[in-house]
Amino acid sequence: MIGSTGQIGSELTTELRNCYGGSNVVAGYIPGAEPKGALAEGGPAAIADVTNGEQLTEIVKKYDIDTIYNLAALLSVVAEQKPRLAWKIGIDGLWNVLEVARENHCAVFTPSSIGSFGPNTPHELTPQDTIQRPKTIYGVSKVCTELLSDYYFTKYGVDTRSVRFPGLISYVTPPGGGTTDYAVDIFYSAVRGEKFICPIAQGTRMDMMYMPDALRACTELMEANPDKLIHRNGFNVTAMSFPPEKIYAEIRRRKPDFKMEYQVDPLKQSIAESWPDSLDDSAAREEWGWHANFGLASMTRDMLEKLEEKLGKE
Ligand code: SER
Repeated sequence: MIGSTGQIGSELTTELRNCYGGSNVVAGYIPGAEPKGALAEGGPAAIADVTNGEQLTEIVKKYDIDTIYNLAALLSVVAEQKPRLAWKIGIDGLWNVLEVARENHCAVFTPSSIGSFGPNTPHELTPQDTIQRPKTIYGVSKVCTELLSDYYFTKYGVDTRSVRFPGLISYVTPPGGGTTDYAVDIFYSAVRGEKFICPIAQGTRMDMMYMPDALRACTELMEANPDKLIHRNGFNVTAMSFPPEKIYAEIRRRKPDFKMEYQVDPLKQSIAESWPDSLDDSAAREEWGWHANFGLASMTRDMLEKLEEKLGKE
């Protein structure tokens, strides 16, 4: 198996090693993002640049890989600054991954996102199958990801599966250029005792998920009985949906002195407004038993505790 050390990749690699054993999971990375600490010690690692298909083939053969978790992507805000690179990694890279998987009989997980929806998608309880006409390059590449992955399944029988991730909130993975990142940044400000400057306007709801649920979604979907899957790429999954003022209020229940001020970022705001307010994830629930364990209150409690411990040690 190949994890990835970028974005959520290091956390997923750790989760996969907990499930399948350290030596059975290869941490894929790009030069400059070498695994460190427990990740480096926990199992094999290899340079796995998705834009280099030959390199991927070598690793797949060397380690007898049966499943590729392809997490290489630029998130929504940063992709708007580098659209060509976003396409090269997200789509040219995916093509390489799918070809290697076809030739070597691997299953492939490539996450999609709430970013695959757009302004004319129904915003409330966004259905599994609905209009997907996003305006961002991130969204365009995620729609292509879903279509190309489904194409490789129907045409070549490659076992491709994915979820449409909402904003992921973690105390391990730092924010990385996404529109939903404010919901991670707010915890850092709260724990550091700083005022939080919120780039998203009051009342703007987006779906979110705590990282332990997101990691479980990846492994549970890849373990699911294929006979039960009507959909493949990708499933709506969600855990909660809130606007900035709601997460602020939840944090203030534990930190009453915490302050927040709005300075709306026009790019982030326009992206946020084009995304769903709340997803309907009933297809994931019905087809592979998806359910989230963390809601806003339980996530906030855990995030504050873990982040206090982490930042206290720095
Ligand atoms: N978290 C991502 C972003 O904000 C959405 O999938 O770009």
